[in-house]
Amino acid sequence: MAYLLETKGITKRFGGLTAVDRVDMGVEAGEVVALLGDNGAGKSTLVKMISGVYKPDEGDIFLDGKKIEITSPIDALAHGIETIYQDLALAENLNVFSNIFLGREKTKKALGIFNVLDHGYMEEESQKVLDRVDIKIPSLKANIRNLSGGQRQAVAISRSIYWDAKVLIMDEPTAALGIAEQRKVLDMVKSLKKHGIAIIIISHQMYDVFEVADRVIVMRRGIKAGERLVKDTSSEEVVGLIVGAEEVGKK
Ligand SMILES: Nc1ncnc2c1ncn2[C@@H]1O[C@H](COP(=O)(O)OP(=O)(O)O)[C@@H](O)[C@H]1O
Ligand SMILES: [Mg+2]
Repeated sequence: MAYLLETKGITKRFGGLTAVDRVDMGVEAGEVVALLGDNGAGKSTLVKMISGVYKPDEGDIFLDGKKIEITSPIDALAHGIETIYQDLALAENLNVFSNIFLGREKTKKALGIFNVLDHGYMEEESQKVLDRVDIKIPSLKANIRNLSGGQRQAVAISRSIYWDAKVLIMDEPTAALGIAEQRKVLDMVKSLKKHGIAIIIISHQMYDVFEVADRVIVMRRGIKAGERLVKDTSSEEVVGLIVGAEEVGKK
């Protein structure tokens, strides 16, 4: 199967440091790829080039086989590439449905002239998408600040689905969550996979990775140190790749 999203020779330098060095990676629709590696290995920098935060110094990005330029995070969204960072970028003082529609609010005409926000429509649509991914939130009128970490994550993910993400990037999605909520996020990842979304997930937790990922890509000091199908590897082998015990470049 062809990759939905692919990078070829992608490179990012910060001054004298090559944070990401000629990395080839890809993810298929309905596939979960886990990016692993020690702190500073280049994982976040790699995904930031895909999500439009950094412009690559070298290399190309392909979506559906076509070379694309991603000029900004907004541009990435327009290509259907959504990113969920640890801080999630939700508006604390707004309710759930307003967050799902943030920046893309639906309005209706009142008295035939005034444009007003169509709260009913936004709430109904938000409920539909939450149901689709099987997420329960007590009230969509609740302010984000009153939700738990896992529920916030659910809102961010629902926003991605509603706006038809093709590629979803998650940088350490479970890092700030309790055990039960980590579980929910992993279940959501599985459900997104069933919807045919291509998912790139960065995680420190080997357990998460082996549960949800189809493939792992290990980064070490900016290079791709190895790539394995989860079904063909073990946590020992992957740890070996992370710390450098395994041969670099072996595939
Ligand atoms: N904005 C930046 N300016 C300078 N150096 C950076 C910047 N972002 C990351 N780096 C450096 O690039 C390397 C890779 O960082 P990063 O991609 O954040 O790694 P990871 O996400 O795997 O922990 C590190 O050495 C880090 O210090
Ligand atoms: Mg990082």
